[in-house]
Amino acid sequence: MSQIEVLAVASELYPLVKTGGLADVAGALPKALKPLGVRVRTLLPGYPAVLAGLEKPRAVKALGEVYGGPARLLAGGADGLELYVLDAPHLYDRPGGPYGGPDGKDFADNARRFAALGWVAARIGQGLVPRWRPQVVHAHDWQAGLTAAYLAYDGAARPGVVCTIHNLAFQGQFDRRLLAELGLPPQSFTADGVEYYGDIGFLKAGVRLADRITTVSPTYAAEICTAERGMGMDGLLHGRADRLSGILNGIDTTTWDPATDPLLAQAYDAARLDARAVNKAALQKRLGLAAEPNAPLVGVVSRLSWQKGLDLLLAALPMLMAEGAQLAVLGAGEPALEQGFRAAAAAWPGRVACVFAYDEPLAHQIQGGADVLAVPSRFEPCGLTQLCALRYGAVPLVARVGGLADTIIDATPMSLASGAATGVQFAPVETPMLENAIRRTLELYRAPEAWRRLQLNGMATDVSWTQSARRYAQLYAGLLVERGA
Ligand code: ADP
Ligand code: GLC
Repeated sequence: MSQIEVLAVASELYPLVKTGGLADVAGALPKALKPLGVRVRTLLPGYPAVLAGLEKPRAVKALGEVYGGPARLLAGGADGLELYVLDAPHLYDRPGGPYGGPDGKDFADNARRFAALGWVAARIGQGLVPRWRPQVVHAHDWQAGLTAAYLAYDGAARPGVVCTIHNLAFQGQFDRRLLAELGLPPQSFTADGVEYYGDIGFLKAGVRLADRITTVSPTYAAEICTAERGMGMDGLLHGRADRLSGILNGIDTTTWDPATDPLLAQAYDAARLDARAVNKAALQKRLGLAAEPNAPLVGVVSRLSWQKGLDLLLAALPMLMAEGAQLAVLGAGEPALEQGFRAAAAAWPGRVACVFAYDEPLAHQIQGGADVLAVPSRFEPCGLTQLCALRYGAVPLVARVGGLADTIIDATPMSLASGAATGVQFAPVETPMLENAIRRTLELYRAPEAWRRLQLNGMATDVSWTQSARRYAQLYAGLLVERGA
């Protein structure tokens, strides 16, 4: 088959700008698709970090006034990726993160900031760029959701549209009075268009109007069609279930490779697993944890948010400490959770250590040194940290939800005997269940044979993008056949 040309649209991309797993996916998927004959160019907002990191930038097109100020389209590269950047200083040139200011509050004009992204994506889809026209536009999350709407109501020939949900908790819902300002026609404001509970729904528009909807694990795809987990969109998702599929994320196995990782004190692989002890000792030292090689060390690398269920871990801490374990937390987010972990570190000095920051090297060092990686999420569309843990021989202890359920095989006598087990799961997501799972995990830890088997099974798991990239390529190809393109 001839090459498929795709425009991906994303609001973050590793290594230029990242708040979570979306950036990892946007950065890694194009590379995995390339050998499969899918060429991806990615459109990003021109935040300062993106403009600063763009290699060989060149102006492609002046766009005139876009939502209140002058804008232009740039092209360039970064880390082997082909990028388009919407350079619109009035929308993106400001301090803070991609979605909010240094005060932690969302920007008041986010509707306009991300409508602009979708609008330009739609224009590129219709041939804005000289000599390149994508056959598929792949919009990630609510920030890219309006792409589908601008294409649907324009009447011009359009490419196929894929909308991927990375997290249904963020839907991009804005006041209906913005309709005209966002350049959406009055007829778009219906249940079959952008209208969402009386407002404008960016993600809703994507889900309603895209040709294909994907999310990042099969279990999450099923969960979001239920009233319990559908966050208001279950009716629509259920109605479009024939267009919805779950494709698991992978990780970049070059960046995440314990055999070559320069951020580790000691590189290792499955054949030299004992060398992990050096990393554990280095981690304990760095974080001020007691230098106890045999104390089970539980790690956390996470956004600190309700989603991640870390309040359950706080509640289980007395029990974890009574078992003689240590805890290393790397996370940033909600002040109440930070406060809880800060208090725990004060209560158990040398046994609980916390770093409240975004720290890439430390994330690697926790994966390479901790015995267990805990992910007690209330919901988890896919989750990437448990995949990194598998690759690094840290045994994942996870809630049985979403992508965690799909990527970790619970250690039972049978799965241990058959060599399938890779971690420990618990459900429902409640503190007593987490405590049981911790007990089960520590029992396994104290049985070195079984523990090593768990680690090796995990390390042998394919967590790369290879399989999933193939599924995206098939999805694009199927869509093109359907559209007769
Ligand atoms: P989510 O996208 O919901 O935050 P994922 O598990 O999909 O969860 O992705 C999180 C990504 O962010 C992973 O690459 C993880 O290593 C990284 N990460 C999360 N918190 C931190 C942190 N405090 N410091 C460094 N990396 C972090
Ligand atoms: C979201 C989800 C996470 C997923 C990531 C990348 O941030 O919370 O589970 O892994 O997107 O798809």
